[in-house]
Amino acid sequence: MSPGRFITVEGIEGVGKSTQVAALARGLEARGLEVCVTREPGGTPLAERIRSLVLERGVEDLPPIAELLLMFAARAVHLGGLIEPALRAGRWVLCDRFTDATYAYQGGGRGLDPAAIASLEAWVQGARRPDLTLLLDLPVARALERARRRGTGTDRFESQRLEFFERVRRAYLERAAREPERIVVIDAAGAPEAVARAVARAIEERGWTS
Ligand code: TMP
Repeated sequence: MSPGRFITVEGIEGVGKSTQVAALARGLEARGLEVCVTREPGGTPLAERIRSLVLERGVEDLPPIAELLLMFAARAVHLGGLIEPALRAGRWVLCDRFTDATYAYQGGGRGLDPAAIASLEAWVQGARRPDLTLLLDLPVARALERARRRGTGTDRFESQRLEFFERVRRAYLERAAREPERIVVIDAAGAPEAVARAVARAIEERGWTS
């Protein structure tokens, strides 16, 4: 059995992640691969309930540390309940966001210590890391304009100010610069088809599907 691969897709709101995740899943399935599409926070019924808790606005203040711990609580559930079993069964797991989002949002955006995030990462994930991360990148103003046109903008993250997303984007790009082997930055400014081709190329280059 050929090994399943763990691919994550990252980027700030409005970069077109969902469209690209769906297109990539179709492309991989067309090659006869078994693909499991999932997302974080979420991916299992319990982890989706944690997602609702974290994204819901106006209940009461959620301190950044609690937000961080809930992200990893959801991740622990997701890894044990879905990601690890799927990879063991040889399936490809395509995940809309994973731990790079924690470094970007809770680290960059909220200003929490990356060392604390790294300890939780090691504790919750052991050695599990994505085999490949596709970071869809767009200038913040452009991405948020796209997200606004899409008609969202009401959850606890989407309602943040521009500066928050500037910090998130910077943290993502810094991670990509530090781990260029794993994290491929993809310019998300073009038409969805052009971005999808760049995504497909990044996978081809790994030689996993040949
Ligand atoms: P989504 O709506 O793009 O799926 O993402 C939900 C929100 O959760 C998004 O604003 C980013 C945020 N998030 C974090 O802050 N930390 C994390 O670790 C993850 C996975 C998501």
